[in-house]
Amino acid sequence: MKKIVIDPITRIEGHLRAEVEVDEYGVVQEAYVSGQLFRGIETILQNRDPRDAGLLAGRICGVCTNSHFRGAVSSVEDAYGLSIPKSAEIIRDLMSMALFIQDHVVHFYHLHLLDFVDVVYALGADPKATSKEAHKYVKHPFRNSHEHYEAVLEKLNNFVKSGRLGPFSNGYWGHSAYKLTSEQNLLLLSHYLEALKFQTNISKAIAIFGGKTPHPQSIVVGGVTSVADMLNPQRLNDFIFIIKEAKDFIDRAYLPDMRLLVKAYKDEIKAGVGRANGNFLCVGGYPFDETTNLFESGVVYGHDFKNIEEFDEYKISEEVERAWYEKGAVCYTDLNDDGTLKTAKSDDKYSWIKAPRYDGKTMECGPLARVLVSYSKGNRLIKSFVNEFLEACEIELLDLSSTVGRNAARAIETSYICEYVFKLVSNLIQNVKYYDTQTWGAYKFAELKANAKGRAFLEVPRGVLSHFVEVEGQKISNYSVIAPTTWNATPKNYDGVRGAYEEALVGVKLADAKQPLEVLRVLHSFDPCIACAVHIVDTKGRELSSYKIKI
Ligand code: NI
Repeated sequence: MKKIVIDPITRIEGHLRAEVEVDEYGVVQEAYVSGQLFRGIETILQNRDPRDAGLLAGRICGVCTNSHFRGAVSSVEDAYGLSIPKSAEIIRDLMSMALFIQDHVVHFYHLHLLDFVDVVYALGADPKATSKEAHKYVKHPFRNSHEHYEAVLEKLNNFVKSGRLGPFSNGYWGHSAYKLTSEQNLLLLSHYLEALKFQTNISKAIAIFGGKTPHPQSIVVGGVTSVADMLNPQRLNDFIFIIKEAKDFIDRAYLPDMRLLVKAYKDEIKAGVGRANGNFLCVGGYPFDETTNLFESGVVYGHDFKNIEEFDEYKISEEVERAWYEKGAVCYTDLNDDGTLKTAKSDDKYSWIKAPRYDGKTMECGPLARVLVSYSKGNRLIKSFVNEFLEACEIELLDLSSTVGRNAARAIETSYICEYVFKLVSNLIQNVKYYDTQTWGAYKFAELKANAKGRAFLEVPRGVLSHFVEVEGQKISNYSVIAPTTWNATPKNYDGVRGAYEEALVGVKLADAKQPLEVLRVLHSFDPCIACAVHIVDTKGRELSSYKIKI
């Protein structure tokens, strides 16, 4: 058995380390994934005014700012029993939806694509053949002309000639796990560059209602402050225009690129490479009309999509047996002499990430979970999006539960959201038209309960986010967060059961132990956000190992 250590894993948010044990055939037999970044925002939140929770919690992460901002404010509203006006709720949803679109596109092109695209191999592409290739996956491909691909080739060649590959340096170029043709590589790389512009534009959509992004400012306890934006037709038009442009890129580049990738890696998909244990968790949300949400809630065990259980928040628990914490204190146990994590014994601690469990089980959350649960529960809105993709690629629903399939689910979700976000804007306009222009539910802070407990569960781009707040004497006394990556990157527990990352790694075959591209692929497919994942429960002596969330 050979141990391979990857530290740090790049093109993610935060500091992640992976250790895998491979047998003589290069197949991963065991995996330890470790969050290497200690945070402590919860400590900063203590003794603060609950109305400031959103602005402080938004600093948990530089990427997921809006998600934590909203999660924190919603948990405080829950504690005080405050409801917010409908227009405010829609505006919050619009900001979230724009963030989903931004996050997913940035993840695929800028954080994950080079696990599948060989930059050096793209240099041999024929621009005309590339243009032809693009037509195989969509009728009207995005910016598709051989002149365009020639220009991209020239740009790449200049990078190489100057000896500086810039963002493309340090890849495992030439690795046998790269399967795309030169033309396919060039096509996807051209979209990598286009997606840089996309990133800038879609951020503006969040900022229209958020004031700025990252770290929007407009969500307050009781509603939002974006009154002038909501009442200004030009601002609403700007938002719609940006989403329309985004939709164009998604329908003509992102989704077709995903069809290309699924076809190229169909063998791996069918073999279930990168599949975790098939336990999925969704809390659902985002009302579309009176009867339907964009996402359904539900719990799936072992890929049994026919028996989806209702989500029950009281089944969530957190353990820290194998995370670097002790009663009331942090406890970093350092490394072995050879630099590896102390993982050998079942009680060795190896991560800053806590171990959330649902009914005692490890769960996967995120776009894959949402697509599987919403589709299987018969959500009428998502059905055609999933069916069309599966038919075009000749794969089945279960095939999505794999490394490449996880990405496909993310792309399906992005195109789905893009389609329905226009309806949410029209819901807002309709609501305002009928003179319901309220964006804040008035309350007097001094008259609110002095002591209260609240929580919020939200679907955010990477999965299920939950914020828990306790207020004593109008000050935050305890704060806890379980982020999507906390679920997916959880360490093992006393029972040794693997979390989604670790389970997905086991069984993966490496072609070259010195270039563990296959490991990076699996981990990147989850879109890790380690800054978000690490959260302490309490620093004041609560018995962490037996902490149960009770609201
Ligand atoms: Ni994050």
